[in-house]
Amino acid sequence: MKGVVLAGGLGTRMMPLTKVTNKHLLPIYNKPMVFYPIETLVQAGITDILVVTGGGNAGDFLRLLGNGKDFGLKEINYAYQEGEGGIADALALAEHFVGDDKVAIILGDNIIEKNIKPYVDNFKKQEKGARILLKKVHDPDRFGVPVIEADKIIKIEEKPKEPQSSYAVTGIYMYDSRVFDIVKTLKPSDRGELEITDVNNSYIESRQLEYDILDGWWTDAGTFESLFHASCLVEKKIKSKA
Ligand code: G1P
Repeated sequence: MKGVVLAGGLGTRMMPLTKVTNKHLLPIYNKPMVFYPIETLVQAGITDILVVTGGGNAGDFLRLLGNGKDFGLKEINYAYQEGEGGIADALALAEHFVGDDKVAIILGDNIIEKNIKPYVDNFKKQEKGARILLKKVHDPDRFGVPVIEADKIIKIEEKPKEPQSSYAVTGIYMYDSRVFDIVKTLKPSDRGELEITDVNNSYIESRQLEYDILDGWWTDAGTFESLFHASCLVEKKIKSKA
């Protein structure tokens, strides 16, 4: 299975922190943010990795990550996203890299406590389709939120004002290679982006979306509060092991 880290975007929600650098290069406790999603993939046994970045500081990713020695990798692949076309637009850049393989995608600002290997193994056993990870949160209206009926996700709503469940769709997605055909059918949302939620809804329509509930803590780091919270969680995890 291939791995893709999406670390593009202009980070406009986090100005002025992102005025001279990319959001994914900001620190989370003792490491740059992008280290964490790469480690998440590597720990799950996914070592064939593409980092999609963008903006004016893309070269810094190369200087920071190089060929992936810090992660025990021999090489890292890179792609460049022009503009702010959204998560699904960035994903389209991975088509050639993924080919006919399956792919695990992780958003560059998603930080988690535990190993996702059990869910990756579940997806390996899944003949086709998609698999997402859900996590219970106190503020679902910030995320993609599943509507669940009899243990089945019947649809996902992006940042709903009145969430139909208390789960967030985390930024860890597993797809078969059909995802690239789906991305080509998407239309930009009200925020002018190709939404990953529309990709997932397309899999739901063809009854090919499975899910697991993520064990351990999960946070994004795309707002000032969550960036700070992520650092605190990582600090606590490191100190509890010391
Ligand atoms: C994105 C997705 C959303 C998902 C979230 C996870 O939101 O659109 O469905 O729940 O990532 O971090 P964004 O960070 O683009 O607002």
